[in-house]
Amino acid sequence: MQTGNIQSITVDLGKRSYPIHIGTGTIEILPDTLRSLGVKCAVAIASDDNVAPIYGERVAALVREAGVVPHICAMPGGEAHKRMAQIDRFIGEFLKAGMDRTSVVIALGGGVVGDVVGYAAASFMRGVRFIQIPTTIVAQVDSSVGGKTAVNHELAKNIIGAFHQPSAVIIDLDFLKSLPDRELRAGLAEVIKHGVIADAALFAYMEENADAILAKDLDKIEFPVRRSCEIKGAIVSEDEHEHGVRANLNYGHTFGHGIEAASNYSQFLHGEAIALGMHAAATLARDLGMVDQAFVDRQRGCIEAYGLPVAWPQMPIDRVLEAMRHDKKVRAGTMKFIVPDLMGHVVHRTDVTVDQARTALEALMGSV
Ligand SMILES: NC(=O)c1ccc[n+]([C@@H]2O[C@H](COP(=O)([O-])OP(=O)(O)OC[C@H]3O[C@@H](n4cnc5c(N)ncnc54)[C@H](O)[C@@H]3O)[C@@H](O)[C@H]2O)c1
Ligand SMILES: [Zn+2]
Repeated sequence: MQTGNIQSITVDLGKRSYPIHIGTGTIEILPDTLRSLGVKCAVAIASDDNVAPIYGERVAALVREAGVVPHICAMPGGEAHKRMAQIDRFIGEFLKAGMDRTSVVIALGGGVVGDVVGYAAASFMRGVRFIQIPTTIVAQVDSSVGGKTAVNHELAKNIIGAFHQPSAVIIDLDFLKSLPDRELRAGLAEVIKHGVIADAALFAYMEENADAILAKDLDKIEFPVRRSCEIKGAIVSEDEHEHGVRANLNYGHTFGHGIEAASNYSQFLHGEAIALGMHAAATLARDLGMVDQAFVDRQRGCIEAYGLPVAWPQMPIDRVLEAMRHDKKVRAGTMKFIVPDLMGHVVHRTDVTVDQARTALEALMGSV
C-alpha cells in the first residue's frame, strides 16, 4: 500500500528514547516497528468498541505481516470505563493471548485507551513495552506523548497511574477521517494551547488555517500535529516527571479542571473545558498586567474560530473555585497558574489570590 510522507521526531529520554512517526498511511510502518523491537511473542491490540471495529482488523493484518499473532481486545468507549476494573480485564486478555515479558501491547484509540492500556502495560509483569497508535487529536497531540498513564478513581480523576514511556508512537492522520467533529474541535484546543505556551508561529498558523483544519484537510493538519508533538516531546525530554517546565502544558488546566469537575465531567469535553480555562487564564494574565486586552481578544478569536466555548453564563463559580482548590496539582494549598506574558511564552504564578481567580472566572460568565 502507498504510504504518504512520513516525518519522524525523537523524544529524547536516554535509553528510553522513542520515535514519533507522523503522516498519512503511517500505519504501514507497523511491521517494521515490531521487527525493530524484536517482537516474537503474541501482540495484544487493545482498543475500544468504537475504534476496534473500524481499524482493528487493519492493524491486526500488519501485525501478522511482522510474523506475530495479533490478539484484539476492546474496552467499552468513554471516560466512565477508565477504571481499575478495565486494567484487570485487559490483563486477563494479555494472559489469554499468551503474552510474556518480551511482548508488546498496542494501544489503538483515543486518550482513554492510551491511558488505560498504557497503565495495563506498565503493570503487566511489572512492565511490558507498548506502542501508541493514537486515533483522536487529543491522543495524537497530547496523551500518546510523554508517558503519563492513568485510570480514574471514583473520588478523583487520573489518580492511579504510572510513568511508562511507549516504545514508539505511530500517528496516522488518516484515522482522523472517522473522528466526530466535536472531538476534533475539542482536541484542537490543546494545539492552540501549544501555540500560546511555546510557539507564536503555531498559534498564527492555527488562526490562519481554521477552515481547512476543521474540514479535515490532512495536509493542513499535519503541521500543527507534528509541531505539537515536537513541543510536548521537547518539554518531556527536559522534565519527564513534571518538576518544572512540564507544568507549562497545564496552561488553561487549573481553571479547566475546576470547570470539568463542577460540571460533573458531563457538560464539556476536556478540550472544551480547556478552551474556557485558557480564556480565564488570559484574562487573569491581563489583570496581573502581563498581557494587554489585545492578547485576550486574539486568543479568544482563535478559540472561537474552532467553535470552542469562551463563555459559560450559568457557571456555578463557587463550585469551580472549590474544585480548583482540590485539584491534585495543588500543593500545600497553593494554586499554581500558568499565565502568558507574550504569545508563545508562559510563566508560573503561585501568588494569585482567590479573588483574582474569581474575577477571571467571572469573565466567562459574560461580564468582561
Ligand atoms: N496521559 C496524558 O498525558 C493525557 C493527556 C491528555 C489527555 N489524557 C486523557 O485522554 C482522555 C481523553 O482522550 P480523547 O479526547 O482522545 O477521548 P476518548 O479516548 O474518549 O475518544 C473520544 C471518542 O472518540 C472515539 N474515537 C476515538 N478515535 C476515533 C476515530 N478515529 N474515529 C471514530 N471515533 C473515534 C472514542 O471511542 C471515544 O468515543 C482523558 O481520559 C484524559 O484524561 C491523557
Ligand atoms: Zn488537556
